[in-house]
Amino acid sequence: MVDLLLGLQWGDEGKGKIVDVLTKDYDIIARFQGGPNAGHTLEFDGIKHVLHTIPSGIFHKNAMNVVGNGVVIDPVIFKRELDNLDKFDLDYTKKLLISRKAHLILPTHRLLDAASETAKGKAKIGSTLKGIGPTYMDKTGRNGLRVGDLEFDTWRTKYRNLANKHEAMIAFYNVDIQYDLKELEDEFCEGVETLKKLTFIDSEEYMFNAQREGKKILAEGAQGSLLDIDFGTYPYVTSSNTTAAGACTGLGVAPNKIGRVLGIFKAYTTRVGSGPFPTELFDKDGETMGRVGNEFGATTGRPRRCGWLDLVALKYAVQVNGVTELMMMKADVLSGFETLKVCTAYKYKGEEIQHLPYNIENDNLSPIYKSLKGWSKDLTKMTKAEELPPALNAYIAFLEEELQVPIKIVSVGPDRLQTIHR
Ligand code: GDP
Ligand code: IMO
Ligand code: MG
Repeated sequence: MVDLLLGLQWGDEGKGKIVDVLTKDYDIIARFQGGPNAGHTLEFDGIKHVLHTIPSGIFHKNAMNVVGNGVVIDPVIFKRELDNLDKFDLDYTKKLLISRKAHLILPTHRLLDAASETAKGKAKIGSTLKGIGPTYMDKTGRNGLRVGDLEFDTWRTKYRNLANKHEAMIAFYNVDIQYDLKELEDEFCEGVETLKKLTFIDSEEYMFNAQREGKKILAEGAQGSLLDIDFGTYPYVTSSNTTAAGACTGLGVAPNKIGRVLGIFKAYTTRVGSGPFPTELFDKDGETMGRVGNEFGATTGRPRRCGWLDLVALKYAVQVNGVTELMMMKADVLSGFETLKVCTAYKYKGEEIQHLPYNIENDNLSPIYKSLKGWSKDLTKMTKAEELPPALNAYIAFLEEELQVPIKIVSVGPDRLQTIHR
């Protein structure tokens, strides 16, 4: 069986931290979608690590880490990630396997991302500019360059043809994008050489054999359900399926082999980049969440927009993914709020609704809140469920009742040890 760990909001829920916490119970950690737009933070022994493409099980001796076919890989960023790991004596070449069918992000994909965003002006997606959209476009357009191509001498010709096409497309956008392609390509080739030192696999075959051998596998999602290409707040989304089904296509795992579906959410909500965000706060409360929660993007450093928990959106994510258990992150950040608000419905075109409408815009929709009592105790030193303050237990009980799924982990700080199991 393959368990899934999925972000249920707009990303940055704390997936990296929880995968790291859970890895001791698994033999294989596998990424199935997204690419270096992700920034997954892990903290232990006083050191903070940020991973973008490498699965969050890499620091554990016991686990193999698989980058699945659904992931898009930028060799330049990948090399940088590996270089960062060099000082930790991990012997990652033995623990990191890359699917041959994963697509490569070319330097020109990144440039195309920038050109597209510039051309959109005010309507820009707020992309991380890592070339994610253009790379998935080439994948579905059947033009992409894949990791497996690097095993054949013809890859350079394929690369050239694709890069030439991209240059024509960049020119089409007619925006001012400055670049030195030669320099970018040297860096790309260097990254490719590093990538080639790792083991390439057919991830579907590997996953199948691992399951037959009874290995325990955890699939690590990137981004979050509300950024899903189909079910997110389109077009302000990423270009992959971040929801449960993405793990089947992104690794080659059959749907009837999916076991537990672990859904992870923050005790409030954040979003980085553009797009609708019904519970967004522009007041002191939002500012407090951002400051206490240190809400800055792990990939781009941009400040994250903050707001109250949106239960309508969370219910939707629980439904779409078939979540079997929940993990609530950053409960510590809410300490000190006298009153907490949770959005339980929307007012949409004058009517009260309890679902996400097709067309969410901040001016046609406003949140309806239920207020709950806050708590003032510092949670960050707590290690047991019995220590949690009554008001937090009431908050949790309310969410469990509404979502009809148990909350099994409450996270009270960024460190591996600041994790309470219930
Ligand atoms: P991911 O993309 O889902 O892996 O999440 P990110 O790493 O982008 O963002 C989560 C941020 O919150 C990181 O800086 C984590 O170190 C931090 N974090 C995770 N869990 C907690 C928690 O329970 N409390 C606090 N205060 N910070 C947390
Ligand atoms: P993790 O895995 C938060 C957002 C971007 C932008 C939109 C499209 O760390 O949770 P893209 O670069 O994919 O074209 O950007 O999606 N976005 C994320 N937001 N966390 C992420 O990943 C994200 N990856 C992409 O900000 O709004
Ligand atoms: Mg992140």
